[in-house]
Amino acid sequence: MSITIYGSINLDITTYVKEFPSPGETIHANNYSIELGGKGANQAVAVRKLSPQGGRFVAAVGMDAFGAKARKELERFDICLDHVMSVSANTGIALIHVNESAQNTISIVGGANMSWSDTGPDPDVFHDTQVLLVQLETPLQAVRSAMALARKRGAYVILDPAPASDVNEIKPLIEFADAITPNESECEAIIGWRPKTRDEAEQAAKELLSYGLQLAIVKLGSHGLSFACSDGTSGSIPSFVVDACDTVAAGDAFCGALAVALYEKMTLKDALRFASATGALTATKPGAANAIPLRSEVDEFLLRN
Ligand code: RIB
Repeated sequence: MSITIYGSINLDITTYVKEFPSPGETIHANNYSIELGGKGANQAVAVRKLSPQGGRFVAAVGMDAFGAKARKELERFDICLDHVMSVSANTGIALIHVNESAQNTISIVGGANMSWSDTGPDPDVFHDTQVLLVQLETPLQAVRSAMALARKRGAYVILDPAPASDVNEIKPLIEFADAITPNESECEAIIGWRPKTRDEAEQAAKELLSYGLQLAIVKLGSHGLSFACSDGTSGSIPSFVVDACDTVAAGDAFCGALAVALYEKMTLKDALRFASATGALTATKPGAANAIPLRSEVDEFLLRN
């Protein structure tokens, strides 16, 4: 096993609404769901659905009913629970609104995800890690330790700097990253300005490389993405046109797919297409982990597009 995902598990409590409520307003929602989410879990599910061997998922849930539900859901996705700890805290939750334009608002309560000490996971979990994927819904110092431990063992480290944080908090992490995958707002948090077009995103990706990275990918959602590599190449690709209904976890699915693609040694061009297709297909279904497509669905979609 060689892809490791270290990160969060949330139970996503999602309401589907016509429009977002305004401050002080109570509205009727069309529907709701309570499902597995969390950027770490979504990325682990993506890796599991897209690769024959899956990945090793290192995470924490609480010893509560939501923790039991999260474990059950992870098992349903065939994810090994050996490194999913149960701690005495509430399981992380995300409160999500999705509107009829497929936009969302999300607030999270970290709970068990925040229970990691500065030293992060047991170093042994990284013993055979070739690709490590991390995000920022667990304590940043623990994420940094995980990155440093995996790097020490020769792993390629992908940092998904989500949710957006302050540059001074992210900088110490970038030091141990090989690749970074911000969206436009995360990019702004790091470099101080927000790319709006693919040309601007390419410029931003080049600026990100100055932090010592090998690869920077700036995601612009339905506007596509831009990238820059330390070998001097850079460019952009448009997004796939799909009928999006819920973009929650599309970015997570992208990152999981990127980890699989780089692990499989796809060319960068193929890896970006593969990851973009996975993100786009995720946006066509409601929910987070549940919306992530299977490898066969992504491969078929790529043949048609
Ligand atoms: O990226 C989407 C995820 O963000 C949701 O599943 C939610 O849990 C929050 O962590």
